[in-house]
Amino acid sequence: MEEIIIRDTSYDDLPQIHAVENQCFTAPWSLGSFKYELGNRQSIFKVAVINKKIIGYVCLRVILDTAHVLNLAVMPEFRQKDIGSTLLQDALQELRLLYPDVEIATLEVRESNTPAITLYRKFGFSTIYKRAKYYQMPDEDAVIMGMELR
Ligand SMILES: CC(C)(COP(=O)(O)OP(=O)(O)OC[C@H]1O[C@@H](n2cnc3c(N)ncnc32)[C@H](O)[C@@H]1OP(=O)(O)O)[C@@H](O)C(=O)NCCC(=O)NCCS
Repeated sequence: MEEIIIRDTSYDDLPQIHAVENQCFTAPWSLGSFKYELGNRQSIFKVAVINKKIIGYVCLRVILDTAHVLNLAVMPEFRQKDIGSTLLQDALQELRLLYPDVEIATLEVRESNTPAITLYRKFGFSTIYKRAKYYQMPDEDAVIMGMELR
């Protein structure tokens, strides 16, 4: 496989990111949501690029004393090649550097999303509780996961 570059996101990347989002989720974020995150100074937003093509991204945001992993996706044909892990690893590394006082990271994930839950467990996230019928299209419970960063 060609070299994968993980780098910060720019506004020019957003249409491509949105196209990946539409391939990866049944209830995708709007372009405006990505734009909002990119403009938010508390957000860490990274893309994975091969041959100038965006194939994945991760977005997390610090709210008060907690980091929230808001979005992580890799295009279907590039999955299970360690790209999702590399994106998350990179974002968490930057989080630890920029926000040494943030001690907890949390996220929510569909209960049936075994690939994502397995990945998050590998990073040290564990289930805190479940939120009933949190998701739509289809209706599904959310698993709320958390991890101590230090
Ligand atoms: C979740 C997602 C980002 C994982 O990306 P990825 O690049 O395939 O992940 P990696 O290759 O880094 O996998 C890391 C680990 O996750 C687990 N994993 C990944 N895909 C898996 C699958 N299909 N089944 C079971 N475990 C899986 C494995 O433990 C894997 O480690 P291993 O390869 O050593 O076994 C990707 O499946 C995706 O984009 N899914 C759709 C969007 C989504 O659901 N995002 C999460 C929202 S909360």
